[in-house]
Amino acid sequence: MRVVVLENVNDVAEFGAKQIANQVMKQSSSVLGLATGSSPLPLYQCLVDMVESNTISLRDVVTFNLDEYLGLAPEHPQSYRSFMNRHLFERTDIDLANTNIPNGLADNTEQACLDYEQAIERAGGIDLQLLGIGNNGHIGFNEPSSSLASRTRVKTLSKETVEANRRFFKAGEFQPHLAITMGIGSIMEAKSILMIATGEAKTEAVKAAVEGPLSASCPASILQMHPNATVVLDRAAASQLTELEYYVYIEHERNRLAEAV
Ligand code: GLP
Repeated sequence: MRVVVLENVNDVAEFGAKQIANQVMKQSSSVLGLATGSSPLPLYQCLVDMVESNTISLRDVVTFNLDEYLGLAPEHPQSYRSFMNRHLFERTDIDLANTNIPNGLADNTEQACLDYEQAIERAGGIDLQLLGIGNNGHIGFNEPSSSLASRTRVKTLSKETVEANRRFFKAGEFQPHLAITMGIGSIMEAKSILMIATGEAKTEAVKAAVEGPLSASCPASILQMHPNATVVLDRAAASQLTELEYYVYIEHERNRLAEAV
């Protein structure tokens, strides 16, 4: 696992956006796994800027989002489909027809989950999966105790997650407690993974994910098993890491070697 510790939210966003840009420049038809939440917003803004300045084009990419609330129509302002349209898709040259998000209104959810897995497979698998991390260590909506081998399915959100996401909903508005999420096993099949975390609220989850034991109690800890996972943190999120200095030193050496080439 590569652990990159940067000064602040902006640096994390720029670093993350560059990783995605590199992937797209290498292969314009890349399959990107995308995430919602507040963490990726500055990164998405960087991607929008890159498209506007013609640094990259997202015209040929195919995207799969991690999750969607069950019971919210795509046009509901808090659905993850609306979120992605608003913050990334409609602001870039991405082809909406190539963007995939689980169907939150599916009658047959089991079939919808299976279809989603098959669509990822048909697209050739995910080249780069972007992840945030929940305060409790969840990735996608794979809450603690999720099977580390799980596939796309319906999950019941933890009280903590419902509480953390309440800020996005108006007072009294229906807030789903169920979601369709790609499983941990599905996420782990991505060829590369980029997890970003910023701010003090993520300190404990990051510590458990990066240095804790591999455990379903912290779903993000599975990334320790991925051969090509990068975790990008700001100082606050990284502050409790025991080996913090070592991670910074590794990156320093990595940059020094890259400059020498
Ligand atoms: C949400 C999403 C996750 C996201 C996490 C953290 O519930 N399902 O994909 O990573 O919670 O969100 P935030 O970045 O807003 O802290």
